[in-house]
Amino acid sequence: MPLHPLVNIGIRAARRAGNVIIRSLNRLESLEVSAKGRNDFVTDVDRNAEQEIIATIHRAYPDHAILAEESGASGADDAEFVWIIDPLDGTTNFLHGFPQFCVSIAVRQRGRIEHAVIYDPMRQELFTASRGQGAQLDDKRIRVSKCKGLEGALIGTGFPFRANLRWLDSYLAMFKAVALATAGLRRPGSAALDLAWVAAGRTDAFFELGLSPWDTAAGTLLITEAGGRVGTLAGADYELGGDILAGSPKTYEALVALLAPHLPEDLRAARR
Ligand code: IPD
Ligand code: CA
Ligand code: CA
Repeated sequence: MPLHPLVNIGIRAARRAGNVIIRSLNRLESLEVSAKGRNDFVTDVDRNAEQEIIATIHRAYPDHAILAEESGASGADDAEFVWIIDPLDGTTNFLHGFPQFCVSIAVRQRGRIEHAVIYDPMRQELFTASRGQGAQLDDKRIRVSKCKGLEGALIGTGFPFRANLRWLDSYLAMFKAVALATAGLRRPGSAALDLAWVAAGRTDAFFELGLSPWDTAAGTLLITEAGGRVGTLAGADYELGGDILAGSPKTYEALVALLAPHLPEDLRAARR
């Protein structure tokens, strides 16, 4: 099936941002890094990549609104289309030359994520999805793993390291429960790519606390289109941002039950 025109623009934008990122890799020492908060860094690479993406979108769709990590929200409040953009997800990895980061772009139409593009410029892997059309990695259909629960499962996660450090004790209890029940945990360091890897069946599930809309917008559609489930750690419906749990349907259910006794008080409610 041919790609939706919005996806084609998203791919063009993501590849351009990927080029900005890759070109900068050989001048990491000379990059100007500023801190937006504790352990929260931004460089000109993040900003230039974001500008490339927004310019590409606006050349094709001047009226579409934007919600981007570095420049925030722009465009009409009642715009039908909003592009949700993380120009460089995994900035800390990038700054260390640790080759795990991506560009994440999603299109929200009337409040619902309809299209997703995640591009890994190191491996040149392109993940795409449109609602109702399935998810692809480089034109090949992908599906979440067939994992039936926790035994033998490989679980992606993100360790608390910024504002989410307030949940560290609960997180460590969750970590212990998961480590004892599964084949192990991985912390690759780019939440959007972590979600794309769940969609591709490379991990059986993923969980993290305290994420932002641009970290998860594209990845969640990839996962549901790949046959997986996405929710909060308490197993409630997912609304962009905050804590997330996603995985193969059975691993997702098993993790909701496993994590329940360890959830921090403010993340317990089944619906928030
Ligand atoms: C971060 C990465 C990281 C996750 C953080 C995110 P950034 O995004 O996705 O894996 O643990 O919570 O903020 O800041 O590199 O775009
Ligand atoms: Ca991010
Ligand atoms: Ca980012």
